[in-house]
Amino acid sequence: MSSSTPSAGGIRIEQLSKTYVSAGRTTEALRSIDLDIRAGEFVVLLGRSGCGKTTLLRMLGGLLSPSAGRISFGGKPLYDANHRLQEDVLSSLGFVFQDANLLPWRTVARNIALPLEVQGVPASERAARAAALGKSVGLESFLDHLPKALSGGMRQRVSIVRALAANPDVLLLDEPFGALDAMTRDDMNLMLQDIWLRERKTVVLVTHSITEAAFLADRVVVLSPHPGRIQRIVDVDFARPRALAQTKSPQYQELIALLRQEVGEEVAEEVGEAS
Ligand SMILES: Nc1ncnc2c1ncn2[C@@H]1O[C@H](COP(=O)(O)OP(=O)(O)OP(=O)(O)O)[C@@H](O)[C@H]1O
Ligand SMILES: [Mg+2]
Repeated sequence: MSSSTPSAGGIRIEQLSKTYVSAGRTTEALRSIDLDIRAGEFVVLLGRSGCGKTTLLRMLGGLLSPSAGRISFGGKPLYDANHRLQEDVLSSLGFVFQDANLLPWRTVARNIALPLEVQGVPASERAARAAALGKSVGLESFLDHLPKALSGGMRQRVSIVRALAANPDVLLLDEPFGALDAMTRDDMNLMLQDIWLRERKTVVLVTHSITEAAFLADRVVVLSPHPGRIQRIVDVDFARPRALAQTKSPQYQELIALLRQEVGEEVAEEVGEAS
């Protein structure tokens, strides 16, 4: 592995560990994770429940402090020597959760514009950028609606473009489509691929879904549980843009079978799923 400094959007994870201590109990969630992610790469973290995917993503997003190890973005450490989070590094990250976390009293446009408001961008510019982002995911007719008037998939589209509003270098997504039905999920996977091809952000996405991982990823990082460690990294070299029908091809099925074997049968959730 090269020791050069990663460029903007590149992520370096070194010897990262996390042990939770609560109510006198300790849980070693992650042990000695080493991973270099290239700028503009689409990396998927895959593994069975409890293997530490959310823990890893939350540490990358500065939402959870590591027990040991280092994280840097574009060569800049996320924490300084005094364990203080670096705000300029944080501002280059966008986060999307399983739950869209929209503010219910704000319209779609004003939800999308929230990060711009925090940055002090003038109102007219905010509105224009929010409208363009909303349009890019097919929500141009819903900009004045409140979140309660949207479907789950539409809410998650708002959440994704909100994360993009401040033009981050890196997008971190934790099971963003986990609560959606299979057909909506397929649509969202296509949309996310489109956004990524257009914007070329560095993406780290956590999922339980082997098909989703195989469809979206440049590299799938399979984690093993108790404690979470990198079990295997699988390159996915299929050309882009990828079509969903491609996942039925023998080459794709071979990849899916490999991932299923790596993860273990428990996560073979595609059985019976319509995708
Ligand atoms: N706040 C916490 N306090 C104590 N233990 C925790 C805490 N959060 C997570 N854990 C433990 O750390 C381990 C990893 O949890 P984590 O939520 O990162 O897994 P995950 O891979 O995201 O699981 P899932 O697929 O179910 O979302 C688990 O054993 C979990 O019980
Ligand atoms: Mg999780």
